[in-house]
Amino acid sequence: MLITIEGIDGTGKSTLLTALKSQLADLDPIFTREPGATWVGEAVRRAIAEQIDPITEASLFVADHAAHLSTLVRPALNKGRLVISDRYSDSRFAYQSVTLKGVVPDPEGWLRAMHDGWSIIPDRTFLLVLSIDDALARLADKSGREHFEKREVLEAVQNNYLAYAWAEPSRFVIVDAALEKEEIVKFVADGIRQILQSSKSHRQP
Ligand code: TMP
Repeated sequence: MLITIEGIDGTGKSTLLTALKSQLADLDPIFTREPGATWVGEAVRRAIAEQIDPITEASLFVADHAAHLSTLVRPALNKGRLVISDRYSDSRFAYQSVTLKGVVPDPEGWLRAMHDGWSIIPDRTFLLVLSIDDALARLADKSGREHFEKREVLEAVQNNYLAYAWAEPSRFVIVDAALEKEEIVKFVADGIRQILQSSKSHRQP
């Protein structure tokens, strides 16, 4: 079972993931992330920091995804493990559609084609949604802002995410990131347990 957690910068993904580690410990999940689950992620971080051209950056994100799938996600799923990824392919579609605007004719089509035929679609995606003002306020305390963390970019990225959730309501679960931390953790943890439960009952003869 593959669960992904998505959302713009500043929605509290990292805090949620830290809390899920203890809340879901009995399920023995594998927690992972993009970028950065493999050494290719280091190249991605460097590309982000140096603001390299958007095609190089997007290609590195896809390379990181390929390495992540082959070394970690696919083997874990084949063993029947629960995998929870902090960001995954929807991050690419949502963010690089913005950075590649005007660079390639159809950014989203280009990005989706890059994943076609080999990537694995998550079973469920929890999308943290927050007003852009609140996300920016939370990011204000952070040092070393990335180039994605600007109002226009975050706004466009969140609109992309919402369009994907609208198009695939059976995969996406929208999470109100303005709620109290405990409520968010409970909502997502309970949601993951329910998905596992219903997949088990479907598999029973
Ligand atoms: P992080 O803050 O979750 O570590 O992610 C680093 C930044 O990279 C964040 O601003 C989102 C961005 N990102 C993309 O632009 N495309 C991607 O495919 C991924 C995984 C992350």
